[in-house]
Amino acid sequence: MSPERLPITVHRAKEIWFTRRTGDSISLVTFMDAALAVDAHGKITAIGRASEFKSPSYSEKVIDHGDGILVPGFVDAHVHCPQLSVIGSGGLPLLDWLTKYVFHAEAQFKNQNVATLGARRLARELMQNGVTSAAVFSSVHAVAAEALFQEFDTAGLRLLTGKTSMDVGAPAAVLQAAHADIADQEVLIKRWHGKSARLRYAITPRFALSCSRELMLGLGELRERHPSCYVQTHISENIEEVAAVKEVWKSCKDYLAVYEDHGLIGDKTLLAHGIHLTNNELMRMATAKATLVHCPTSNMFLGSGLLNLKQVQDSGVHLCLASDIGAGTNLSPWQTMLECYKIQAIQGNRLSAAELLYQTTLAGAQSLGLGNVCGSLEVGKDADFVVIKPSKKPILAERLVTAETPSERLFACITCGDDRIIEQTYVAGNLIYSQAAPT
Ligand code: GUN
Ligand code: ZN
Repeated sequence: MSPERLPITVHRAKEIWFTRRTGDSISLVTFMDAALAVDAHGKITAIGRASEFKSPSYSEKVIDHGDGILVPGFVDAHVHCPQLSVIGSGGLPLLDWLTKYVFHAEAQFKNQNVATLGARRLARELMQNGVTSAAVFSSVHAVAAEALFQEFDTAGLRLLTGKTSMDVGAPAAVLQAAHADIADQEVLIKRWHGKSARLRYAITPRFALSCSRELMLGLGELRERHPSCYVQTHISENIEEVAAVKEVWKSCKDYLAVYEDHGLIGDKTLLAHGIHLTNNELMRMATAKATLVHCPTSNMFLGSGLLNLKQVQDSGVHLCLASDIGAGTNLSPWQTMLECYKIQAIQGNRLSAAELLYQTTLAGAQSLGLGNVCGSLEVGKDADFVVIKPSKKPILAERLVTAETPSERLFACITCGDDRIIEQTYVAGNLIYSQAAPT
């Protein structure tokens, strides 16, 4: 924080939108002709109609965002840094796609320079899309995780990451023996986990097919030594994958049990995809308070399947959204929300704009252990927010002329929005991206 920063900054905007959850019900909280006050520590001290704010005093700096709308910073709860370069590699289902495109791209991240530039590029793209917190996969190489921490720290983003653990089932260039993997992770955890409030470590087995029993056991022990660390991995994304896991992990009763049996499932565990989980697995996830990270653009691109979101919610599993680049096709949370909507709509489940925004803001923050810190614009939370300017996209500006309610306007943004309407991105009151003056 710069020393010259004034004690209170008041952000004025045409509207403010964020979500609140009461029981099972998600509502959109809206203010017109709105203002958000942020103190010198980046915390929200007041929010409401600008006319109800006390008149600015000498200690207040007012930033007028004109026709801008403030929404909470978005959360991307599952994105692969080394896969930015393989987005749109089409034509194959999951396991063949990994073999043909992904492992080769990830092998490049052994090189420090590639890893640094890749991490910088991802940070830049996320900020430009209004993402303020992300759970990121790197490659198997410690330098790649190191580069992510360094670059995201410099950018001012919130980050959950770790080196990807894999010792079987892929070319040697992306494998590392169990003992060396665990040793590297001990160093990374010591150096980065909680170094600042924005940085946390996640133990990251790629998936059940890329870890030997020895490595899984080592990861479980690592988690036991570091219970405040997170766990992120993939589960039940693709039918062939599920069948292969059943074959390889014969002693485990199902896919979830591979992780359960090694002590990797808990309330700090993020499981991506889960399209083909059984009811029983979902119930066990709910009991453990693990999160299911839904990656709609990825599921559609690889043809993995359609998540039954109602089944997930009925089982009580916490769910949030993510891009899953490079199987996912877009880093824009607008596009992730839209694809999520379509996948449910085709199954007869029509989600509201509020539910979609909730899943990519507050629900995401909760998954990353940040539910009390960000994800909505409540007094006492850190001011992680995005200034959106729908007027920057003519087709959207035109559509908004006839959209009568904030909810209709939000739905139009979800449908037509992209990075062009992201004007500024703030984390804890600090401006980390501005479209007007790209850094
Ligand atoms: N399962 C294991 N690795 C991956 C990956 O990189 N992307 C996706 N979508 N699924 C995976
Ligand atoms: Zn993934």
